[in-house]
Amino acid sequence: MKKLIGAAAIGALLIALTGCAGGGGGGEGDAGAEGDLIVGFSQVGAESGWRTANTTSIQSAFEDAGIELKFSDAQGKQENQIKAIRSYIQQQVDVIAFSPVVESGWDTVLKEAKDAGIPVVLTDRSVDSADDSLYASFLGSDFILEGEKAGEWVNTEFADADAVKVVELQGTTGAAPANDRAEGFRNVVTDPKFEIIASQTGDFTRAGGKQVMEAFLQANPQIDLVYAHNDDMGLGAIEAIEAAGMVPGEDIKIVTVDAVKDGMTALADGKINFIVECSPLLGPQLVEIAEKVAAGEDVEKRIVTEETTFTQEQAIEALPDRQY
Ligand code: AHR
Repeated sequence: MKKLIGAAAIGALLIALTGCAGGGGGGEGDAGAEGDLIVGFSQVGAESGWRTANTTSIQSAFEDAGIELKFSDAQGKQENQIKAIRSYIQQQVDVIAFSPVVESGWDTVLKEAKDAGIPVVLTDRSVDSADDSLYASFLGSDFILEGEKAGEWVNTEFADADAVKVVELQGTTGAAPANDRAEGFRNVVTDPKFEIIASQTGDFTRAGGKQVMEAFLQANPQIDLVYAHNDDMGLGAIEAIEAAGMVPGEDIKIVTVDAVKDGMTALADGKINFIVECSPLLGPQLVEIAEKVAAGEDVEKRIVTEETTFTQEQAIEALPDRQY
């Protein structure tokens, strides 16, 4: 909007100087007429299939809306995100949006954005800041609920079992989905017959999931269930289980979160047993929010993404139309 006012002032000056209000001609100036908004977005990285789908959704939504998006990939590092946000403040973008790598440590930079009068929209992941005036809105999933949905399936699946040994592949340490999915699972898997015998981060990556699962298998003669905080780590675990001569989905049950195409394919094949959906398609809603906050309109502080869960049959049905 600051640019809108600036552009209007320059336009008025040009008209005054030339006595002409334009009228055709095309050229670069017309592209700007589509929208004067500039949004700076800092992405976590490219750690998973989910993240790739999320980046595509955001970039294509802004392109379709004719809004300039300055995009930076933090490669999983908070310091890179802080640098990117500071650079967006310096460039005086109209709105800053970002998906925080971890929950803590954002107050200083968010205050800098607030002092500069630039609204911030959190997407996908939140921050643990006590002062919620530091951001305009948070658009994303309810990760605690996702962990609870995974846990509810586990309770039903193992209803008749006497003892269940669980291993957990956690997401990136300190990230909201890792903290909340662990919490949600424990909220509902409360029967003492369930024992979480090992829990370690696989950093939301396939390679990380595989490596950690290999170590879990070596250290534990009996594992009944893998709870992976995302599909990619679950897919890595499948590789490790197969390499150990066991059948994923049968010898060891697997429940994951995300429902990206590769995860859904493994579910359809019976290698994963249940998936809790986490939608990465946040782009169109983020565009709407950015337009509103830039125009000074009210937006909801918390917008929760709608999501479902998938059994094997549901995955088989959903796969042909799956967008990501
Ligand atoms: O924040 C969303 C999580 O981050 C997704 O579940 C995971 O795949 C991604 O890396």
